[in-house]
Amino acid sequence: MSTKDSSSCFISFIILGLVITLAGIAPQVEARAFFVFGDSLVDNGNNNYLATTARADAPPYGIDYPTRRATGRFSNGLNIPDLISEAIGSEATLPYLAPELTGEKLLVGANFASAGIGILNDTGVQFLNIIRIGRQLQYFQQYQQRVSALIGPEQAQRLVNQALVLITLGGNDFVNNYYLVPFSARSRQFALPDYVVYLISEYRKILVRLYELGARRVLVTGTGPLGCVPAERAMRSRNGECAVELQRAAGLFNPQLVQMITELNSEIGSDVFIAANAYEINMDFVTNPQAYGFVTSQVACCGQGRFNGIGLCTVASNLCPNREIFAFWDPFHPTERANRIIVRSIKTGDTKYMNPMNLSTIMALDSRGFFFDSTSSLDLQRYADCEWEGDFDNR
Ligand SMILES: *[C@@H]1O[C@H](CO)[C@@H](O)[C@H](O)[C@H]1NC(C)=O
Ligand SMILES: *[C@@H]1O[C@H](CO)[C@@H](O)[C@H](O)[C@H]1NC(C)=O
Repeated sequence: MSTKDSSSCFISFIILGLVITLAGIAPQVEARAFFVFGDSLVDNGNNNYLATTARADAPPYGIDYPTRRATGRFSNGLNIPDLISEAIGSEATLPYLAPELTGEKLLVGANFASAGIGILNDTGVQFLNIIRIGRQLQYFQQYQQRVSALIGPEQAQRLVNQALVLITLGGNDFVNNYYLVPFSARSRQFALPDYVVYLISEYRKILVRLYELGARRVLVTGTGPLGCVPAERAMRSRNGECAVELQRAAGLFNPQLVQMITELNSEIGSDVFIAANAYEINMDFVTNPQAYGFVTSQVACCGQGRFNGIGLCTVASNLCPNREIFAFWDPFHPTERANRIIVRSIKTGDTKYMNPMNLSTIMALDSRGFFFDSTSSLDLQRYADCEWEGDFDNR
């Protein structure tokens, strides 16, 4: 950003400050709450508290996390929700099942995600005890009762309405259901295109439920390039190219998700749901890793066998010495460095990545909603261009 831009942003914020002060509207300086739903891509450690095989609570997971400890995040360090929290100026969300999530900490939000789950109840059954999406939504309701008891029902309602929400589902409905074994029950029941239509119709119900529970700004991610993760390259492709069937699945799922979200928003009459095109976002560094400073996007940092894509990442696995130059941490999940690239696209990407708008535009719009009445005529785009928090240069 040039000096000129920075100073105009600075002046804008001085004016913003004045308006708030003059209007006498109590400026809640606290960052907005953040709620997370979904699978292992966004689980911050709920599965640590469950009897399940889908867990990341042992080394070398967390090797680059600030504490150097495994936390339950499926990453060498920070994951996508952590980086979104950082972007909106909040602390990281705690797992809903964490005993420390009490009192004031509840006001930061909560993470309800659970590795292994999908849109469908029969996804991830092999992981035994995980928090399926219906249960995550029940916990969200329970959370609201707890916050209500803390700050009163009106404030609680406002906290939820003004919150940012992230939901990441769908990958496991292919990887850990339809394509889990040859001739799976779902693949005998549905041809792939029909299965996708069914998934989208079930996903829609989940989003409607989120809306009913008070969510008003929801980032909805589609599936990444499922066939290009090291596990699928290792198991399903001859020469290491992306596995065709899973790519076809992602290719069908993502555009229909965007369309469903567009329709839902127009029914509601507001852009409540924002589609993040995880496929395009990931494809950038998957197809051209060198351009992003990675040596490879085929081989996982932690794993064994072909492309380090076979089995789990454990203390006994191969481990790359430098996690900054690998796009994939384990056979299925990106490294912290790749997560930073993903969140940068969520924040500032154009409509190829984010529909109908990106996170920086959301932040600009919503801060206006909190502080100004509808007659206010501020130049929103100016705020959208300001760096409102943090810096996403690669670390
Ligand atoms: C999943 O299970 C929940 C709780 O048992 C149920 O309410 C819901 O309808 C189920 N969803 C589907 C798609 O069957
Ligand atoms: C995304 O964010 C940038 C500012 O960071 C803005 O210039 C751009 O117009 C935004 N794009 C969309 C589609 O919202």
